[in-house]
Amino acid sequence: NYYAIIMAGGIGSRFWPISRTSYPKQFIDILGTGKTLIQSTYDRFLKICPKENIYVVTNDIYIDLVKTQLPDMEYSQILGEPVMRNTAPCIAYGCFKILNADADAVITVAPSDHLILDEAGFVNTINQALVTAERHQSLITLGIKPSRPDTGYGYIQYTEEAIDSSFYKVKTFTEKPTLDIATTFIQSGDFLWNAGIFVWTAKAITKAFEQYLPEMHEIFDEANAVYNTDAEKAYVSQVYQQCTNISIDYGIMEKADNVYVIPSEFGWSDLGTWASIYQLAEKDNEGNAAIPSEKVILYNSTNCMVNVPDEKLVIIQGLNDYIVVEANNTLLICPRDQEQNVKKVVADVKQKFGTV
Ligand code: GDD
Ligand code: MG
Repeated sequence: NYYAIIMAGGIGSRFWPISRTSYPKQFIDILGTGKTLIQSTYDRFLKICPKENIYVVTNDIYIDLVKTQLPDMEYSQILGEPVMRNTAPCIAYGCFKILNADADAVITVAPSDHLILDEAGFVNTINQALVTAERHQSLITLGIKPSRPDTGYGYIQYTEEAIDSSFYKVKTFTEKPTLDIATTFIQSGDFLWNAGIFVWTAKAITKAFEQYLPEMHEIFDEANAVYNTDAEKAYVSQVYQQCTNISIDYGIMEKADNVYVIPSEFGWSDLGTWASIYQLAEKDNEGNAAIPSEKVILYNSTNCMVNVPDEKLVIIQGLNDYIVVEANNTLLICPRDQEQNVKKVVADVKQKFGTV
């Protein structure tokens, strides 16, 4: 009995002004593929479990957006959170609710905003993980071979001890280390990046909540009386405020001792920066990536990343190595190697205009 929970409540502030609180990254076709990231995520899961078993957990303000982008989902499959409390409560809510309906559920939990190029490879890895998670009642995470000491990821150190031949016992799990520590991890060679995609039985993960986040366990276990009744929404709205703001990585994955990793290769990117979008986007002979490409005309320009509204005619002359992004009446022009400044820009704009 396979299920999927798609986490879609983050705000993706690094892609401002295209991604913003009212319209975050997962709801955008950021690579110009014709599908938004959450639509691609949903379509991948249709190959893994029946569509009635797919849930999305998101903020209340995005529920209608999810329904519009995924019209095949019922409102009862879109779980709303009144406040952002990071991924631990989001996962607790989804997993306890599924457990309530199906004691034998095996669940894949995935972000809504990642790119996966090799869909068949992904489906194959998840199918193996579902079998192993059920057989061993362990917590499984997907690991990616790291290519740089990125401090935005979780790092998994694994041992030789394997179950079902390809799942390695996790020795340490370190969420978002400092640059120094990340560098040592990369050098040592036995670390993988955590992809943020997890597979476990409803029983195993709720047990882990009991052990490591007992207050959260209590809150969502008590909700057993109201799941799938008219009282669910009101109860959840009320108890969510009391949940600690913590990610599953810090709350459970760093602490649990029955964690196994499957080293995976399926063309994964978490599309975390414009640099990663640029790298993956289709480029012209001068290295310019323009989304959409029809109405962006570049002369004497190289290596630019342009992302503008469909209806906009944009002419760029003599520009090299820049990001040009327009959305929601906001235009951002920034050298490609200074995109980390966007965070500060967003803070300044917020201070000056009250809203971003
Ligand atoms: N429903 C809900 N509620 N979803 C949330 C919330 C929340 O409060 N906060 C984040 N999400 C969603 C995001 O939309 C995203 O799809 C997913 O949960 C992961 O959250 P991120 O905020 O993007 O996490 P991260 O990228 O910093 O770190 C995680 O992913 C990395 C790989 O991309 C961790 O799992 C790392 O260990 C991992 O390396
Ligand atoms: Mg992320």
